Amino acid sequence: CPIPVIAIDGPSASGKGTVAQRVATTLGYHYLDSGAIYRIAALAALKQGIDWQDEMALAEMATHLDIRFAAGEIYLNGDIITEAVRTEDISRGASEVAVHPALRAALLDLQKSFRKAPGLVADGRDMATVVFPDAGTKIFLTASAEIRAERRYKQLMEKGIHANLADILQDLQARDARDSQRSVAPLQKSENARLLETSHLSIDQAVNAILDYSRANT
Ligand code: C5P
Repeated sequence: CPIPVIAIDGPSASGKGTVAQRVATTLGYHYLDSGAIYRIAALAALKQGIDWQDEMALAEMATHLDIRFAAGEIYLNGDIITEAVRTEDISRGASEVAVHPALRAALLDLQKSFRKAPGLVADGRDMATVVFPDAGTKIFLTASAEIRAERRYKQLMEKGIHANLADILQDLQARDARDSQRSVAPLQKSENARLLETSHLSIDQAVNAILDYSRANT
């Protein structure tokens, strides 16, 4: 019997990271934040002076990335980069490097290696379609762009970071377009994924919906 996977895909700021992490904690499963992998690739490239457009150099770099996730921190070559990968610049960089098929291919085994007993919750854009096509539970988690922008805005305000709601919305829409229109592994609802529209759901309600659905599936 293969190790169970709950694949959760969806657009930026849909809340899928928070929801996926809670589902993983509740079930005692491992957690893969695949977006972080692309963010790390963008940051590592920046540090090594590799251009975000240089597909072959990025793919080569990806084969010897020294990444570790431990106790809520992300390590690159032993340095903590948890905050450094969350900047607006790296968010843009991640979505730019993510368009390259050779880089995506080079990051495939790393992502698959997170599948360990007793199970995995993986969130991203192509978890159900490309990385874990045999996942027993597939969720496409979304919310309207306006609601996602408001959620991101509130998060930033809580951190005391000044932000402009219109700019955030525009930025999200640009990233959605880039993620949905690229030729490899575009953001797309897998045919057999369950659509979870969270515009009017709380985090707890979204978590419970996924837990119920995964129980019904196993
Ligand atoms: O989810 P997060 O916003 O951290 O992802 C950063 C970027 O990485 C996304 O905008 C997307 O372009 C890319 N990504 C991807 N495939 C994934 C996860 C993220 O292409 N599975």
